[in-house]
Amino acid sequence: MIKIAQIGCGYWGPNILRSLRMLNTCELKALVEIDVKRREFVKSRYPNVDVTDKIDKVLNDDEIQGVVIATPAESHYHLTKLCLEANKHVLVEKPLATNLLDAIELTNISYEKKLTLMVGHVFLYNPAVILLKKIIQEQIDNLYYFYSQRLNFGRIRQDVNVWWNLAPHDLSILLYLMNDEEPISIKVEGFSFTQSHLEDIAFATLKWKNNITANIHLSWLDPKKVRQLTVVGSKKMIVYNDLSEDKIAVHDKSIDCNNHFDDPGKVLFNHRVGDIAFPKIDMKEPLLLELEHFITSILSKSKPKTGPLHACRVINILDAGQRSIINKGEEVNIESVGKLDRKYAESTL
Ligand SMILES: NC(=O)c1ccc[n+]([C@@H]2O[C@H](COP(=O)([O-])OP(=O)(O)OC[C@H]3O[C@@H](n4cnc5c(N)ncnc54)[C@H](O)[C@@H]3O)[C@@H](O)[C@H]2O)c1
Repeated sequence: MIKIAQIGCGYWGPNILRSLRMLNTCELKALVEIDVKRREFVKSRYPNVDVTDKIDKVLNDDEIQGVVIATPAESHYHLTKLCLEANKHVLVEKPLATNLLDAIELTNISYEKKLTLMVGHVFLYNPAVILLKKIIQEQIDNLYYFYSQRLNFGRIRQDVNVWWNLAPHDLSILLYLMNDEEPISIKVEGFSFTQSHLEDIAFATLKWKNNITANIHLSWLDPKKVRQLTVVGSKKMIVYNDLSEDKIAVHDKSIDCNNHFDDPGKVLFNHRVGDIAFPKIDMKEPLLLELEHFITSILSKSKPKTGPLHACRVINILDAGQRSIINKGEEVNIESVGKLDRKYAESTL
C-alpha cells in the first residue's frame, strides 16, 4: 500500500478525497489546503487524515510517494514542479499547465527523475468514451466530422476562461478518438459577458488532415446542461450523451451515392435509415478508475494513459486556440508536439 497526499480540496477535491479513501491500494496520509474553512470541512469528515496548510510537510515526508493536486489551473505548474523536485509521483488536475513551455518543462523533469506524471483527463477513463472509440473503429467506416457541446448554467471561474476550463475535456476525448493524431489548425471565437477579461462562451473549429473536422461549443452561461458529442461517419452516426442513461446511441444511417440510371453524369443520394442501437455499457465511476490507474502506473512503472505527452498535446491545442481567441477567431496552424515522442519512448517509464 503506498502513501499519498492531496493538495487542494475546494469544489472538485472532495470527490478525489472520497475516491482515494475507497481504494485499498493506497492510504491518504496528508491533505494540504490553504483555506481554513476547507481545512475544517476535511477535518470534520475525515478525522484520521492529517490536514495542514504547509506543503513542506508533504514534500519532506519520505513516506509519501504520490501527490494528487486539485487546485486552480494557474497553480498547477508551480505545485507540480515542487512535488516532482521532491521526488513525488504526481497526478494533477487538468490542465497540466497554462502554457506549453511550462508543460514541456514538467514533462522533462518527470522523465529525468523517472517519476509518474499523470493529468486528470478523466473522460479517458470513462467506459462510455472507451466504448465510443471501439464503435468508431469497428463500425463507422470513414470518419467525417465531430461536434460537441459542453454547456451549463455553471460555475463562473475567475482564474481561467471557459476555453481553458472546459475545452481540455473535449480536446482530450478528440485526441483519444483520433488515435492521438493532432489537428493541423484551429479557429476559436470567444465572448465575454460576466467578466470583461475572461470569455464565458467559445466556439471552436478544429481541422485534421483528410478533411476531418470538429466543432466545440463551450459555455458556463447557458440555460441548459448539455454534455454531448456527435460523431458522423460514412456508415454510422453516433451520439454520446454523458447525461443520459443510454449514454451511446448508434444510428444506422448513411447517405449512399448511386449513379443515375438514365444519366450517368448525375448522382442519386439514397438516405439509408436503419435501427438505433443503445449498446450496454459496464459503467464504473471514471474518477475512481483514474485514481486506480495512477496508483497502478506508479506500482508497475508503466506509462499512464493520460501522461505528459497527452497533456502536452492538449495544451498545445489550448495555446493555439487562445491565440485564435485573441485574434478574433483567426485560423491558427498547430505545430505537432510529436517531437517529444522520442524522448518519451526512450524514457523507462
Ligand atoms: N475533472 C473534472 O471533471 C473537474 C471538475 C471540476 C474541476 N476540475 C479541476 O480541478 C481543479 C480544482 O478545481 P475546483 O473547481 O475544485 O477549484 P476550487 O477553486 O473550488 O478549489 C481549489 C482549492 O484549492 C485550494 N488551494 C489553492 N491553492 C492552493 C495551494 N497552493 N495549496 C493548497 N491548497 C490550495 C483552494 O483553497 C481551494 O479550496 C481545477 O484544475 C479544475 O480544472 C476538474
